[in-house]
Amino acid sequence: MLKSQNADGKNSGVFATKKRMTFKEIAYKSQNWEKAVRLREKILREPLGSRFTEAELEEEKNHIQIAGFWGDELLATAVLVPEGNKMKMQRVVVASAFQNRQMGSKMMQFCEKVALDKNAVSIYCHARDTAVNFYVKNHYEREGDYFDEDGIPHLKMTKKLKQNA
Ligand SMILES: CC(C)(COP(=O)(O)OP(=O)(O)OC[C@H]1O[C@@H](n2cnc3c(N)ncnc32)[C@H](O)[C@@H]1OP(=O)(O)O)[C@@H](O)C(=O)NCCC(=O)NCCS
Repeated sequence: MLKSQNADGKNSGVFATKKRMTFKEIAYKSQNWEKAVRLREKILREPLGSRFTEAELEEEKNHIQIAGFWGDELLATAVLVPEGNKMKMQRVVVASAFQNRQMGSKMMQFCEKVALDKNAVSIYCHARDTAVNFYVKNHYEREGDYFDEDGIPHLKMTKKLKQNA
């Protein structure tokens, strides 16, 4: 009989197949991209009473789409925006029921690897005040002062990926 596993790999019960946490790049306009947009809209925009605009979604054709899966279920997503030799990371979310199980941190590591593969020397984000400690735990450094974005205090946070960046 197969046993199910939690995100941390501990056995949790019976009657389920083994699942793994995986991360990959997904294609713009693919079914997974549609799921990713719905997930980040639900977590980032709905509480603010807003949605992604057509222009914002159209712009994503120029970006790198990242998704995290538990088995075949898409539960995390982020978007990488190449800016010269830097990479901006945005729209970082983990599904509510899966938060605080290291999925966000593992997705950071995956994003940093993708950024390095694209020759970025550093990666940065505009962190919501509520997420600053998450980035600190992932070794991002605060840069400058808080500023307003979408009516929420944000802080620029950066991580060097190569020495002398
Ligand atoms: C922020 C977010 C992506 C983190 O993902 P996650 O999978 O929950 O985070 P992890 O489990 O990898 O957490 C790693 C560490 O950061 C801490 N942490 C996670 N979310 C945090 C938060 N919002 N505030 C403070 N600390 C946080 C965890 O306690 C953990 O610490 P530990 O290693 O000492 O246990 C996720 O909580 C989320 O989607 N939040 C809502 C959307 C959001 O705010 N996105 C960021 C926009 S800038």
